[in-house]
Amino acid sequence: MREPWVVGVTGASGTPYAAAVLRALFDADRPVDLIVSRAARLTILDETKSPFRDAHWRADLDAWIGRKTAQGDVRYWPAGDLAAGPSSGSYPTSGMLVVPASTASCAGIALGLSKDLLQRAAEVNLKERRPVVMVPRETPVTRSHLEHLIALHDAGATVLPASPGFYAAGAAASAEQLVDFIAGKVLDAVGVPHTLFSRWSGQLGAH
Ligand SMILES: Cc1cc2nc3c(=O)[nH]c(=O)nc-3n(C[C@H](O)[C@H](O)[C@H](O)COP(=O)(O)O)c2cc1C
Repeated sequence: MREPWVVGVTGASGTPYAAAVLRALFDADRPVDLIVSRAARLTILDETKSPFRDAHWRADLDAWIGRKTAQGDVRYWPAGDLAAGPSSGSYPTSGMLVVPASTASCAGIALGLSKDLLQRAAEVNLKERRPVVMVPRETPVTRSHLEHLIALHDAGATVLPASPGFYAAGAAASAEQLVDFIAGKVLDAVGVPHTLFSRWSGQLGAH
């Protein structure tokens, strides 16, 4: 049975994090169901200068992540399609990764608003007690942001802020290394193998 990871990309800054997670899932031969929120089209356009269109999703995805996905197992569901597979708990998935996660999507999922397929799919994976990883990207935060993250934690999600450590590559880490650090932590959280960063060896300054 196909049990994809649902990857939800919201309109928070940080589309490179999503691209790195998608590449790593493909590298690990894991099937992916992709949902891109309406607002994420703006951040993808802003951060990559490329559009993301439902009708051209495969070509736009390839341009965005810099990879030919033709051979990969990826299924795309428009964010407005509330009848899509991941809108039901009977649709098999391994779980869901929301990367990056806007404050709006954190609030919507914490409150169960299901205002689009992305929020509905996250709620479904939580209610089915499947792994859900939320990668919030906002700073500074309000009390309500924090309360929504606590609600998500209590509902079973792993809250994994886009807050890269420098210990894997040192103070001269490139932006790509910092992005890969977060993507690697996302994959660690759900037990998918990767080589995105060097692990702590127990020795200071070993990088
Ligand atoms: C260029 C751009 C950058 C944004 N960056 C962030 C961000 O870092 N964090 C955040 O929570 N919202 C950010 N937003 C606002 C969200 O896109 C907005 O709240 C939207 O309603 C989120 O909808 P979604 O969760 O359905 O994707 C940004 C918007 C734009 C246009």
